Amino acid sequence: MRHLLANSDAEIAPVFDSMSYSVFAGGKRIRPYLTLEFARILGAKDEAALSFAAAVEFIHTYSLIHDDLPCMDNDDFRRGKPTNHKVYGEAVATLAGDALLTLAFEAIAASGADAEQIRDAVLTLSRAAGAVGMIGGQIIDMSSEGKQISFETLTHLHQKKTGALIRAAAELGCIAAGASADIRSRAVEYAEKIGYAFQIIDDILDRTGDFSTLGKSIGSDLENGKTTFLSFMSIDEARKTAERITGEAVMAVGNMPDCESLCELAKYLLARNK
Ligand code: IPE
Ligand code: IPE
Ligand code: MG
Ligand code: MG
Ligand code: MG
Repeated sequence: MRHLLANSDAEIAPVFDSMSYSVFAGGKRIRPYLTLEFARILGAKDEAALSFAAAVEFIHTYSLIHDDLPCMDNDDFRRGKPTNHKVYGEAVATLAGDALLTLAFEAIAASGADAEQIRDAVLTLSRAAGAVGMIGGQIIDMSSEGKQISFETLTHLHQKKTGALIRAAAELGCIAAGASADIRSRAVEYAEKIGYAFQIIDDILDRTGDFSTLGKSIGSDLENGKTTFLSFMSIDEARKTAERITGEAVMAVGNMPDCESLCELAKYLLARNK
């Protein structure tokens, strides 16, 4: 990521500074880890997976910069630091997000993978990040503000808002390794389940988290009138639901060789407090 964000042109330095500020602010790197672990387990032979992993993290980081803007969640802290727009202003923060989104696809195109792998990676990631994926999730999330939405709408929203990119991260690892359709569908099942559990925990942490550990604003959902998992069940019930789904995720990859890291990741996501 440092290599892809290198720039020696002083004129355009402000946007690179803003991009780097958020990329290196201390995110957990869950999505690129998924890409790299699936690539490793499934026997990827070259380093294209590293570029694919960087691409996913760039898109994730861009989505957080925009998500925090005053016109969206209006949050002041992210990854333990002031949000991008608090430091660089709204205009530069918006452009830094745009530039990270485009850089993601440049990274894939320049990865050195086969043309067919690049095509598959671009298609998979663009669909996951775009209007039918993550952006669609953000739209449903925003249009649900201040309203009571159904549990079905909420899970649908979560699948798109958070699930789509996590799923794509796992798929990119499969693509880098040239995995079979059967293996890829098991990776997808695992990723969809951990993605679902991940967003349940995100909702719980927004309510019960500790600001200095979590590194982002607490109580943002209540303040913005969001329906979350906790609009339908207690914290205890939500945690149990996340545990059950995590168990199912582990089962989906249980007979892949060398899958311990994926099982560990699923359990870590459940127990995380940041
Ligand atoms: C937070 O994602 C945003 C959601 C999609 C809910 P992460 O919790 O993975 O954020 P970082 O990358 O560690 O900051
Ligand atoms: C953000 O969801 C999801 C995306 C950026 C696509 P949230 O608004 O719940 O994420 P946090 O809680 O601010 O990290
Ligand atoms: Mg949001
Ligand atoms: Mg937010
Ligand atoms: Mg949240």
